[in-house]
Amino acid sequence: MKNIDSNSHLRGESIYLDDVPLVAGTLFAAAFGSPHAHGKILNLDLSEAEKMPGVARIFTYKDVPGENQIGGIVPDEPLLAEHHVHFQGMPVALVVAESVEEAKMAMKKIKIDIEPLPIITDPRVAREKGELIVPPRTFKIGDVDAAWSQCAHIVEGTADTNGQEHLYIETQGAYTFPLENGSIRIISSTQGPTAVQRHAAICLGIPMHMLEVDVTRLGGGFGGKEDQASMWAILCALATYHLKRPVKYSLDRMEDMRMTGKRNPYSSDFKIGLDKDLNIIAYESTYHQNAGAAADLSPAVLERTLFHSTNSYFVPNVKATAYSCRTNLPPNTAFRGFGGPQGMFVIEAAIHKAAETIGVPAWEIQSRNLIKTGDEFPFGQIAESEAKECWVVANQIFEPEKIEKEIKAFNAENVLFKKGMSFMPICFGISFTKTPMNQARALVHVYTDGSVGVSTGAVEMGQGVNTKMLQVATQIFSIHPNRVKIHTTNTFRIANTSPSAASATADLNGKAVEIACNAILDRLKTITAEKFSVSETEVSIDNEEVLIKGSPVGYNWSQLIQDGYLKRIALSEHGHYAPPGLHYDAKIEKGHPFAYHVFGTAITEVTVDCLRGTYLVNSVKIVHDFGTSMNTAIDRGQIEGGLVQGIGWMTLEEIVYDENGRLRSNALSTYKVPDIYSVPKEIDIKFLKTEKDNMAILKSKAVGEPPLMYGIGTYFALRNAIKAYRPDAEMEYATPMTPERVLMGLVGKKQEKVTV
Ligand code: MTE
Ligand code: HPA
Ligand code: MOS
Repeated sequence: MKNIDSNSHLRGESIYLDDVPLVAGTLFAAAFGSPHAHGKILNLDLSEAEKMPGVARIFTYKDVPGENQIGGIVPDEPLLAEHHVHFQGMPVALVVAESVEEAKMAMKKIKIDIEPLPIITDPRVAREKGELIVPPRTFKIGDVDAAWSQCAHIVEGTADTNGQEHLYIETQGAYTFPLENGSIRIISSTQGPTAVQRHAAICLGIPMHMLEVDVTRLGGGFGGKEDQASMWAILCALATYHLKRPVKYSLDRMEDMRMTGKRNPYSSDFKIGLDKDLNIIAYESTYHQNAGAAADLSPAVLERTLFHSTNSYFVPNVKATAYSCRTNLPPNTAFRGFGGPQGMFVIEAAIHKAAETIGVPAWEIQSRNLIKTGDEFPFGQIAESEAKECWVVANQIFEPEKIEKEIKAFNAENVLFKKGMSFMPICFGISFTKTPMNQARALVHVYTDGSVGVSTGAVEMGQGVNTKMLQVATQIFSIHPNRVKIHTTNTFRIANTSPSAASATADLNGKAVEIACNAILDRLKTITAEKFSVSETEVSIDNEEVLIKGSPVGYNWSQLIQDGYLKRIALSEHGHYAPPGLHYDAKIEKGHPFAYHVFGTAITEVTVDCLRGTYLVNSVKIVHDFGTSMNTAIDRGQIEGGLVQGIGWMTLEEIVYDENGRLRSNALSTYKVPDIYSVPKEIDIKFLKTEKDNMAILKSKAVGEPPLMYGIGTYFALRNAIKAYRPDAEMEYATPMTPERVLMGLVGKKQEKVTV
């Protein structure tokens, strides 16, 4: 089935926040952000700004009627700064005017006097100074200290990954409308409608039932709108609360890049020990997460780093410790993979360094240590693994020995161009790591004409979840897809939603749709059984035809629904789903946090231009564990998009803050993202089909985040190509592998670390 949005996307008819027709009387907002990264506000002078044409009002923290607090996990983030500023761009005041231009002109007239305080941008410095967001956490299995003595090889090092700008095509924004008696309607570009509702209620000091949050779709979220959409929605709601007028704020690109958080950069240490047969015996790692100035989602991101610290490998002795470090940067946040990629990069770096030191190809270590069904993860969950299957199938169909031979021949013949290749196995846990978040609801209405309306907590952000929800309803009822409409995500229809995140949206909401549809179907079967004097088990529906004992009887879906209405059965149902079997005890750091894991293997081949440092990704060949994909077109799209986003993180995308905490890569001229020329020339995706009765919706495994981590393979393929040119190249394990960094490797200069 095609993505149900494809036609309207192509015609430009799909509705995003900025397509909502403007209502007469709408005001426009703009946030005044701190010009300093850290300091004490001595004076804020709004007098000139307030006199500017078109200004309706300028709001500060003093105008927040409830609690001036939007921190989701830790209450450490004010909506508007009070006496201190903690990062450049931190909202201090909100200008509301008759036009966007007037709001921005007035903003320039705001005067702020700040007494500077010391600025920290490096997470290791933050840790030294005791600036931690939450206490550190350690995952342990076996006895790592005792295990070193059994190791034939021990290798230590550091591994750093930079952040990543979400760069959703649609920037952050919201549009709020006054309803009667103080209620407010919020249209928000958010992955978390309930997060917006909950925090708007806290800030405005009103109950959640007065706040309707409605989301049609997002032009991308990638984690950046899981929590960080709340700020802009609540600021608009604050203005609507006071002025009783509609208020809109759609950030421009530079505002968005400057004021919002990104993927958490990490600076990590590793120590890995192997026996003489290359079995990984022990692994010790320490992660310094750059959280930015407030907790936001960083503690949860940190936790997932630990959950993925051993990637696809079984290691009997592990000690992994993670620090969430407070710096004076915008609070960093969720980004596809949610800390998993950062953890997986470190063990891959450890394995590659061990391989180089021992003098074997990295794949020998990787393949020998893949996790098997029955093995225990460091956090106590027993693996149900497809790691080996993916690896073996990749070796069968892509014949990497042949590729390796060709690469050797190519490298022997060519002086200025060198090829490199790598393997990248992935393993990603599906479920919110915070167990209570794993729940969802759906509301299904069958109308008297036989058409069906479905509402869920799922937010469509390009990942195709609405198409999957429609497939579930269509399949359960066995009716034509054009009978079903997926409605907007709305907090008045579906309450207490978890954000659309953790790749679990289709699983959680799809199962809720399944439950609701089955309840209605059961009632329809009951009245049909009565009508034809048969038992309910003898009734089925096939492609809109009602079948009795498998045969048509000249009775169809439309007639059935008419009868259902006349017999006064409920043609609506609210389904609730909470996956069973999940638990986790953070005190002992053991449990069963994931419904299942997704596995895969990517083989990447690159060519480096050794004169220029530029490179091409020739091919990425993937065997991916889809379960039984319910939509191969959408799932393939997720693999391609995730892969390219991962390659961007590993190679081109370089976030640079200066020592004053100022973002220097603040526009698309200074922040390079993958374009059509930098995507792999060949992307070959083979579906590993399994039919295990896992907790995936219709056995179709979650696919949103896992493929991002295939991109890590490109980093190591590039290193291997550089080594083919200069075997003694000394390169830190640090990303992104920009052409500049490649060139430094090629000419034998020690590469400088990117500071953040
Ligand atoms: N794909 C598109 N096109 N746009 C997005 O914003 N977000 C990713 C992934 N794929 C995203 C996307 C992230 S971060 C997650 S968690 C999942 O989609 C969320 O959707 P799912 O739970 O339905 O997979
Ligand atoms: N993934 C994504 N988002 C989240 C998670 C998670 O595990 N936990 C809380 N928010
Ligand atoms: Mo995705 S980072 O869980 O929104």
